[in-house]
Amino acid sequence: MALKEMKPLNLKRNERIDVDYIKGILQPTPTCATWDDIWNFQAKPDDLLISTYPKAGTTWTQEIVDMIQNDGNIEKSKRAPTHLRFPFIEWVFPPIGSGLNQANAMPSPRMLKTHLPIQLLPPSFLEKGCKIIYMARNAKDNLVSYYHFHKMNAGLPDPGTWEEYFEDFLEGRVCWGSWHDHVKGWWDAKDKYPILYLFYENMKKDPRSEIRKIMEFMGKSLDEDTLDKIIYHTSFDIMKKNPMANYTSVPGEIMDHSVSPFMRKGAVGDWKSYFTVAQNERFDEDYKRKMMGTTLTFCSHL
Ligand code: A3P
Repeated sequence: MALKEMKPLNLKRNERIDVDYIKGILQPTPTCATWDDIWNFQAKPDDLLISTYPKAGTTWTQEIVDMIQNDGNIEKSKRAPTHLRFPFIEWVFPPIGSGLNQANAMPSPRMLKTHLPIQLLPPSFLEKGCKIIYMARNAKDNLVSYYHFHKMNAGLPDPGTWEEYFEDFLEGRVCWGSWHDHVKGWWDAKDKYPILYLFYENMKKDPRSEIRKIMEFMGKSLDEDTLDKIIYHTSFDIMKKNPMANYTSVPGEIMDHSVSPFMRKGAVGDWKSYFTVAQNERFDEDYKRKMMGTTLTFCSHL
């Protein structure tokens, strides 16, 4: 189905979008219906792509990148909500629009977002040598954050109970697929392509050093006062209050912040409030198997 033929979804409160598989990876059905257009997306060499597994700190990275791009000018970064400043290339949500249409209408240099695993990334991004920033988050906090996001977001299936969702996440039966495959796939790609691979936990621990890495990767040079401004403006407490960064501009039928705010806790180690001892053991044993052989390591508490 072509993008222009899509009818508005008109979801009512509590109604959920359907999902289906693209090459073994679950996706919302509007994305599946327009997959050929997404796969054939034409990147431009000066596009900057932010890639993450959902809930790994995408919005945080976007805000930092936008502020760096705008030399620390807060007003410029408040020009529009995050989802309009950064087209989400595979996202097709008829009440809001399509990331592809948004990207195609955007003047260069474009800043784009994706959650796609590396094997589903439109090939044009790698062929054109686009710079890509990948942000990864430890699996346990990522799982907890994703569970809450499912609950408040009609653009994703109902997560079921915590116990059901826990199993679905481990099996990769969630939108954008297995966390383990996602972080490993991008990790393996980072030495072959211009990919800056970052960690949520390091950003929490030492934002100055991580923001500097992003700045250098983007080819920018900002003074220490500007960096201070960016650190402050992109802190959790400030972003939580910023309507251009906290997703409160999305209609309530889609994101219901009274169920769980988009800016929920922004912490490392919150998983300890949710995992039972048995779940933690099961998770660790499964993790060991799935992450065997990779040099990629995470910390799940600070
Ligand atoms: P929690 O649900 O654990 O609070 P994404 O942007 O990829 O959807 O990720 C959202 C997660 O990042 C949420 O995690 C959100 O609170 C957290 N987050 C957003 N901005 C943040 C910031 N400035 N500092 C720390 N965490 C942030």
